[in-house]
Amino acid sequence: MALEKPAAEPKPTAQVVSYEDDEEAKAGVDIWKYVFGFTEMAVVKCAIDLGIADAMASHPEPSISLSQLSSELGCCPSSLRRILRFLVHRKIFRHHADADAYSQTPLSRRLLTRGENSMAAFILLESTPVMLAPWLNLSSHVAGASAGAPPPFVTAHGDDVWAYSVANPGHSRLIDDAMACHARAAVPALAEDCPEVFEGVLTVVDVGGGNGTALRLLRKAFPWIRGINFDLPHVVAGALPPCEGVVDVGGDMFQGVPKADAAFLMWVLHDWSDSECVQILKNCREAISESKSGKVIIAEAVIGEEEDGKLTGARLALDMVMMAHTSGGKERTEKDWAHVLRDAGFAKYTIKPVRAIQSIIEAFP
Ligand SMILES: C[S@@+](CC[C@H](N)C(=O)[O-])C[C@H]1O[C@@H](n2cnc3c(N)ncnc32)[C@H](O)[C@@H]1O
Repeated sequence: MALEKPAAEPKPTAQVVSYEDDEEAKAGVDIWKYVFGFTEMAVVKCAIDLGIADAMASHPEPSISLSQLSSELGCCPSSLRRILRFLVHRKIFRHHADADAYSQTPLSRRLLTRGENSMAAFILLESTPVMLAPWLNLSSHVAGASAGAPPPFVTAHGDDVWAYSVANPGHSRLIDDAMACHARAAVPALAEDCPEVFEGVLTVVDVGGGNGTALRLLRKAFPWIRGINFDLPHVVAGALPPCEGVVDVGGDMFQGVPKADAAFLMWVLHDWSDSECVQILKNCREAISESKSGKVIIAEAVIGEEEDGKLTGARLALDMVMMAHTSGGKERTEKDWAHVLRDAGFAKYTIKPVRAIQSIIEAFP
């Protein structure tokens, strides 16, 4: 017996919808982003762990069928299809329905484990149990911060992230790899957007320079620069192989900073409280004091400096990361930076936006 199609419902007549009703309806949809927010990180991590983007990149054709991909990865085809359906919906990979095949997108290429645009190491760091555990202590920290509640990372692991990294070399390497992949995206953007910052600068000390990736990229853009990659001894011990024009020096920036024309600090000051930043910056001021053109170049977010607001959410998220993972670190507004720089004895500063999460702050003694 054929099923009968029910008669069409009468179309609703036009109604006046207030902004509040609209917001209410949108809230009913948007709330699911928060209910299931963790799935985005978890599934993207799964895609990196499986090597989906890498397998597509090494496939000789521009697209790859589900059966080829699943046999290449040794995965269950039906589970892989569901993972890909989730990712395709977010424009991570493209599905070609006619051939039931998949190809890369600009976003999926960022999940490659190598390459200029890869952010895989950063995602793998943030999705480790070590970095996820502190988030569960955020509310107890915020509620008790004025009464001296320890920072979330310390509650979770008994030490701050830097002491934890000394004791856990594997975690330290994950941090270095994550910072290096971020540097590969950020340094070319700042070099292209404000090359004048490095004109006439012959020597640079990269304070908290990690494994030396940023300094090598600066030298690629400005080949006349000679640089010192300065970081904690266990970090420089695992730095990139030696290269011309770069020396690695281990030390503690709270004790002193090697001398140069310019001290460069990218994503270092945001890890620390205002008083600790003042101490680091005073040591940087001392380090550049013998150079006629001495200056400190800071690559950090400036909250409220958004050109178009596209990275505002990322900058505010970074501020939350600082709250969860550091002991007093934060993202700063221009007013915050002005205070810190003045207290460290700098006479003037300029801020230049670049196509990155950071701006370039030049501070002059
Ligand atoms: C967030 S990472 C930034 C790395 C690098 N500047 C970049 O953006 O790629 C902060 C760096 O500060 C270093 N650091 C932490 N405490 C330090 C200290 N007391 N002296 C020198 N470096 C330190 C860490 O080892 C780490 O490499």
